[in-house]
Order: sequence, then structure tokens, then C-alpha cells
Amino acid sequence: MEKTKTGIPGLDDLLNGGIPTGSNVLIAGGAGTGKTILTTQYLYNGATQFGEAGLFVTLEGNIRDISWNMESFQWDIKTLQEQKLMTIYRINLDYLKDRTMIEERIQEQLMEIEKEVKEINAKRLVVDSTTVLGAYLDSSILRTTLFKFSDRLKEMGCTTMLTTETQPTKTSFSAFGVEEFVADGIIALYFTPPNRSIFVRKMRGTKHDKDPHPLDINEMGITINSRDKIIWEAIK
Ligand SMILES: Nc1ncnc2c1ncn2[C@@H]1O[C@H](COP(=O)(O)OP(=O)(O)O)[C@@H](O)[C@H]1O
Ligand SMILES: [Mg+2]
Repeated sequence: MEKTKTGIPGLDDLLNGGIPTGSNVLIAGGAGTGKTILTTQYLYNGATQFGEAGLFVTLEGNIRDISWNMESFQWDIKTLQEQKLMTIYRINLDYLKDRTMIEERIQEQLMEIEKEVKEINAKRLVVDSTTVLGAYLDSSILRTTLFKFSDRLKEMGCTTMLTTETQPTKTSFSAFGVEEFVADGIIALYFTPPNRSIFVRKMRGTKHDKDPHPLDINEMGITINSRDKIIWEAIK
């Protein structure tokens, strides 16, 4: 089993070495739990530690926000972009306001993403966040869209992280109830002030840790303490 290391301190230990290469992993958590930081760090580490190019697809905010977010960690993404080791691609969702031809428009965006993946030979892909789609699509279209979307992402052969903004519970990990079924893996992030934690809910194709662990965010990014466990009662 080939693994893709996240390079995030502590996380690969929880995943018995890393994410099975080619998987599609959902990163679930409420606002401010660290989803954008974790996924950015995954791409940054891929480029700087493993020589793997990464594509960051954002469905929210603007490119300046993202660059700013990364710069607050002194991650020099400008150089990585120049070296074609990282690309940030923003999907404009305004076109979805026109309810006709939604399928075609999404198809167009997927082809655009595919083009970007090929352009830099990306091995790592992030889509942040899938949740904003809910503002544009009604639930039945959303379900089929998300299924098709992640199918196509899978065909691109990248190891992918998709974020979903939701407060994960013990039994539910996604905003629309479908993302978790299309995903090969689910990683949940929690913030119960002042404590942050991370829990690997599932990961197809590998053994993985079964407990929540402390997570810290500082100027170096995210660090996970894989040795200390957090009890569930402390998270609720
Ligand atoms: N340099 C930093 N040091 C410590 N914590 C930080 C730093 N930068 C951001 N954070 C924390 O990370 C949070 C944002 O994380 P983010 O990944 O954007 O969350 P999400 O994408 O899940 O909404 C902020 O609310 C803040 O608490
Ligand atoms: Mg975010």
C-alpha cells in the first residue's frame, strides 16, 4: 500500500504512515477548527518535503485571503507557485445562480480543475470547502453533484482532501450527509475552547488510530500530539 505522507507533525502516526495514495479524504469540522490550515499545510509539505506539486481549489473567500492565511505561517507559497509546485484555483460559483445548465457548468469547472492538475502534474489536491455549494444547489442536485464531483476528482489520480464545514458528531461528519459516503477517509477536527483535537473516523486501506488527540495551532502551523489521548467527554 503506497502512502502519501501529510508531513503534519503527529498526523502520519495516526494514519500508520500516511494517507493511502489516491484516496479522497474528508476533513470535517466547525468554523475555525483548522480545516484550511491543515489542508494548506498538507500541500505545502508535499511541495517542500516530498517534491510533490499540489492544487488548492477554493470555493470560498478570495485568493488574497488564502495567500494571507499561508503567509501568517511564513509559508513561502509565492516561490512554490513560481516553481509550479503549487497552484491556487478559485471556482467562481456565481454561475450557479443561473439554475439552467448547472450540470454543464460543473462539468466545465471539473475540466478546468483537471487542466490545472495536469499543468503542474499535481499529486495532491484540496477542495475547500464543499459546504458553500449548499447555498446554490438544492439537496437532490447537490447529492448527485457531489458524487459525480468526487468521482471525477478520483479519476485525476491525486490524493485529495475535501473540507466540509460542520460540527461533527459521533455519527455524522458532513453538512449534507453524502460527503462522508463518497469519501475513503474522514478526519474530524474539534475546537472546544481552549482545546483543539483531531480524530480519524475512517481511512480505507490502512490501520489507523481510534482516539481523539490534542491538536495545536501555532506559527509553525498544526502540530498533533499522537501520544496523548483526549476523552470524548472533553470534546462535547
Ligand atoms: N498563527 C496562528 N497561531 C495560532 N493560531 C492561529 C494562527 N493562525 C490562525 N490560527 C487559528 O486558526 C483558526 C483558523 O483556522 P482555519 O484553518 O482558517 O479554520 P477553518 O478553515 O476550519 O474555518 C483561527 O480562528 C485561529 O484560532
Ligand atoms: Mg476554512
